[in-house]
Amino acid sequence: MNTKKDFQIALAKYLSEKDFIYGPEPELYEPVAGFYSYGLLGKAMKNNLENDIRNMFIDNNFFEIEYPIVSPQIIWKASGHLDGFNDPVVICSKCKSSFRADKLIEEQTEIAADSFKDEELLETIKEKNITCPNCKSRFELEIKRHNLMMQTKIGLDTIAYNRPETATTTYLPFKHYNTFFRGKLPFTVFQIGKAFRNEISPRQHLLRQREFTQAEAQIFLSKEQKENFELFKDSQNDFLPLWTQELQENNKPPKIISLKEAIEKKILKNKAYAWSINLTYKMFISFGIPKEKIRLRQHWETEKAFYADDAWDLEIELNSFGWTECCGIHDRSDYDLTQHQKFSKQDLSIRLENGEKIIPNIIEIAFGVDRPFFALLDLAFFRRDDAKRTVLSLPRKMSPIKVGILPLLKKDNLPEKAIEIKKEIEKKFRTYYDESGSIGKRYARLDAIGVPFCITVDHQTITDDTITIRERDSLKQIRLNKKELLNKLEKFFNEPDFFE
Ligand code: GLY
Repeated sequence: MNTKKDFQIALAKYLSEKDFIYGPEPELYEPVAGFYSYGLLGKAMKNNLENDIRNMFIDNNFFEIEYPIVSPQIIWKASGHLDGFNDPVVICSKCKSSFRADKLIEEQTEIAADSFKDEELLETIKEKNITCPNCKSRFELEIKRHNLMMQTKIGLDTIAYNRPETATTTYLPFKHYNTFFRGKLPFTVFQIGKAFRNEISPRQHLLRQREFTQAEAQIFLSKEQKENFELFKDSQNDFLPLWTQELQENNKPPKIISLKEAIEKKILKNKAYAWSINLTYKMFISFGIPKEKIRLRQHWETEKAFYADDAWDLEIELNSFGWTECCGIHDRSDYDLTQHQKFSKQDLSIRLENGEKIIPNIIEIAFGVDRPFFALLDLAFFRRDDAKRTVLSLPRKMSPIKVGILPLLKKDNLPEKAIEIKKEIEKKFRTYYDESGSIGKRYARLDAIGVPFCITVDHQTITDDTITIRERDSLKQIRLNKKELLNKLEKFFNEPDFFE
């Protein structure tokens, strides 16, 4: 595969054939861009990822809530999304097709245009001779704004919206949190759920969908706590690959910097924010994304979302789309609660121990779950897809099926013995039993869907109760007594590279 485009096409086809991602949906009728299904294996893998995210937030003392997806208009007026959440659009002068201007530039020139003002977008389109992908004509010389909110109705005629982010809906029960946490900041709350964006012309598979899943964690805290965040001291000697605006402007690569130095040199604004970026980075490493594929990119003043006082993205280098934003860390200051106080006319302030009344600030870690999901598959597919062996080299804990169970032959009591072992193992691990075809073909089928371990039952099993276990990536095989199997498997899944 020579180009990113080739890789994108091959990966999308593979993910569909192997039951990870179907779509765009509805496949059975006329597909609509930006809507995908998680298939028989994809949904199981997405659950693994979501559970990992959930457990890591819970381990760091966050509480989970679930708020309705649909909310009345006033909420999105208050949050600023109705007026400020829009994309720049250009329209073809001939066929009148609309395109998102910054993405069009990125696709046709590889210039990162996220931070461009409208005039810069138009200038680049002119200078680089960018034409309509449909009919090759020129664009109208105007940038229009397209609101991303997906409208719906409640009852007969009350206009409402599908949420464009979970974050806002995590802020709304703030008064309940205040009671639960007894007014003692920081409050830490997260939500995992669907969000909707009415993208103009989504063309990047799972990376830009109209319906997608977010996992967003919010820290409500005082300004003073931002500067003196208690947990910071435990992580101050951790290192992060920080790509500041200055390094970007000078075409220099990210610098590996300790959190302590990043605060001392004011690269990161405050300790709570630095801790949040570090937690995010550690989460991605723990999903199994290699360190060298990750960088943290500072947003430019011109590209920050309307609610963000400071913003960095965690980006992953994908084979299919190059460096791609997979999570955003935002300092939303007291913007959100101030807005909701104003529009709801309810008091959303809290009183600090020193008697001062404040509106809490919020720092958020905002994942689009579909993106790390896609990244894991993109990187796994690349690492092992060669002419000889097609292997989906997923991190073990992310694989939808954990263990393959294969009797060497379909006779001599081997299937019965294998089924006995399957029953034992499936109490803890999702298994797949396969007795059809040569053993080589069966290994290949399971390698191709990322099953990390295959257990083979052979004639020796009948005599001494031992089996062989084969590791997908190294092809190494070891022989074990059946009794040791569950313990060994636990160890293999707890230690990502261990196999002996
Ligand atoms: N909550 C931030 C985002 O949706 O990107």
